[in-house]
Amino acid sequence: MKVYFIGAGPGAKDLITVRGHQLIQEADVIFYADSLVNEQLLEDAKPSCEIFKTARMHLQEMIDMMVARVKEGKNVIRLHTGDPSVFGAIMEQISLLKREGIEVEIVPGVSSVFASAAALGAELTIPDLTQTVILTRAEGRTPVPQLEKLSELAKHHCTIALFLSATLTKKAVKELLNAGWDEQTPAAAVYKATWPDEKIVRTTIGQLDEEMKKHGIRKQAMILVGWALDEQIHEKDYRSKLYDPQFTHGFRKGVMR
Ligand SMILES: C[S@@+](CC[C@H](N)C(=O)[O-])C[C@H]1O[C@@H](n2cnc3c(N)ncnc32)[C@H](O)[C@@H]1O
Repeated sequence: MKVYFIGAGPGAKDLITVRGHQLIQEADVIFYADSLVNEQLLEDAKPSCEIFKTARMHLQEMIDMMVARVKEGKNVIRLHTGDPSVFGAIMEQISLLKREGIEVEIVPGVSSVFASAAALGAELTIPDLTQTVILTRAEGRTPVPQLEKLSELAKHHCTIALFLSATLTKKAVKELLNAGWDEQTPAAAVYKATWPDEKIVRTTIGQLDEEMKKHGIRKQAMILVGWALDEQIHEKDYRSKLYDPQFTHGFRKGVMR
């Protein structure tokens, strides 16, 4: 028997994977992060399925409950928002389950970073502009390793996605500016991407804090910064090699001029 850690996706019920949805339908027990997982996903669970909200549980309490049920031969799943591998706090659960001899399997999900990029109609990697996306958070009560301070990471001037940072925008902006970013650099905040009350704020890093405050965004938001978010990007001629007529690759021979 094993415990499945399933990415529930960013919110919209139809953004979970087919595999994740099937496992929900077969589950005897579901643990889910009630602050962020869409409860509509649970409508497809069996009527007999035991469902537990985890927001108020502590780690050991949750693990003891999972272990007891797996040992009773039940199908146990743990639903996490977005993709479980990013800020999912899954490894601490997996480690304790493994110590109890319980196997786990992770089912990926659509992370909020990609749901937010989609909401913005953005590509996060633009040829000749940036080829890197950094997924990180601003430092708050949770410390960030010295080499991963935003002021260090931002020196790359690539696209940066900030999770868990909606209350830390002032600090984040200061670090971006310290790293040499211009106040005019495009920035966006997406609140509850793919939920019915989704909000999108497009701005610059100089205005980010004020704009988020103005729109009442202080939680459940993805912040994306960098020139890939430029609203005028369509007017610029960034081109990939993939579709360059002169570029030869495994599936196409380039034409000579
Ligand atoms: C604990 S982390 C979990 C991230 C999740 N594993 C993922 O892949 O999206 C929670 C943070 O993810 C972001 N987040 C999660 N769902 C979101 C959504 N629907 N829209 C915007 N941001 C979201 C916010 O930054 C929030 O503070």
